[in-house]
Amino acid sequence: MQRLLTNCRVATMRSGSPYGLIENAAVAIRDGHIAWVGIAADYADDSFEERVDLGGRLVTPGLIDCHTHLVYAGNRAEEWSLRLQGASYEEIARRGGGIVSTVSATRAAGHSQLLEATRARLDVLLAEGVTTVEVKSGYGLDLETELRMLRVARELGEATEVDVVATFLGAHALPPEYRERRADYVRLMIEEVLPAVAAEGLADAVDAYCEGIAFTTEEVRSVFESAQARGLPLRLHAEQLSNCQGAAMAAGMGALSCDHLEYLDDAGVEAMAAAGTVAVLVPGAWYYLRETQEPPVDALRSAKVPIAVSTDHNPGTSPVLSILAAMNMGCVLFGLSPEEALRGATANAARALGFDDRGVIEPGKLADLAVWDVQSPAELSYALGHNPCRRVFKAGVSRNGG
Ligand code: NIG
Ligand code: FE
Repeated sequence: MQRLLTNCRVATMRSGSPYGLIENAAVAIRDGHIAWVGIAADYADDSFEERVDLGGRLVTPGLIDCHTHLVYAGNRAEEWSLRLQGASYEEIARRGGGIVSTVSATRAAGHSQLLEATRARLDVLLAEGVTTVEVKSGYGLDLETELRMLRVARELGEATEVDVVATFLGAHALPPEYRERRADYVRLMIEEVLPAVAAEGLADAVDAYCEGIAFTTEEVRSVFESAQARGLPLRLHAEQLSNCQGAAMAAGMGALSCDHLEYLDDAGVEAMAAAGTVAVLVPGAWYYLRETQEPPVDALRSAKVPIAVSTDHNPGTSPVLSILAAMNMGCVLFGLSPEEALRGATANAARALGFDDRGVIEPGKLADLAVWDVQSPAELSYALGHNPCRRVFKAGVSRNGG
């Protein structure tokens, strides 16, 4: 199938000019990939089967949400109410609430219930032009439920309209039955659960939560060594509530991304820069936890650490189901420019997931495209609660058919 998108403006996100913007543009799509992009008047080939007039609209790469916990049962509105009355996330976690309460609900849910609930959430993300989404396990914390969560993620990825990257997050929290047996839990993940996940091909990467209320740097390192032995790339929830030096450790092991990063120090920034590790900012969690310590955006910029932005959708700290809202929060709360926010949900989010075939509109890349009813690309992170996405192409195929 060959298709020519015409009468559009294209934010290619190539570096060199703001948004890599091309006015009066055309995009040629062949076999699911970008064949050509440029000023329409420069396009010579007229052998295309279909011309699509986009009415002057803006085309961007399909958006990429590179950090979500989309598979879970239940919700945590009660905990949220408690936090609004002054209880901290850490206190709630230490009292057996928080992540562990979602673990109980998720363990009790069957495959089809989880699939249905996750599908409904995924649809909301997709409506905003998302064409690739990362989904973590980590609310099972036992063999059976971790596998079930990842199977749900895989099943959702079988749909042609979106690519789902599945990440194993067994080291997310210590389940109650292991409260006095930390080492046994880490061993269970390394010796039983990770091998089973890998044997079934259920994970594309391994993540962990390195934090006072979760796992130590050394515990995470041992899980990561086992992941690397199986050829799985790494990412880490690091320095969210305190500085545990997790980012430096993960970057030293070549992690694709370190996420959250409010308490990241200069050594951590340098280690990430040296390794090419992406900084994934998740302003939704910062907003819901009413944090005050901002991630070191200036230091990340100066060190040229690529910055991505994501929803971190989860029922506890970030029940945000909008990548555009996350981009807006990245600007308002962390001082990103609208261009950095868009790059953070396209080119740099692709990098955080280890992809070099998407996130930018240029020949050879996948034709994952979103079409927007806006004048300027800055409008994508400007409004809240407004969805100007009008059309999505996934690998060249229009999501609404054709
Ligand atoms: O990314 N920080 C750890 N994990 C999630 C929160 C999970 C939860 O509270 O359920 C996060 O914020
Ligand atoms: Fe998270």
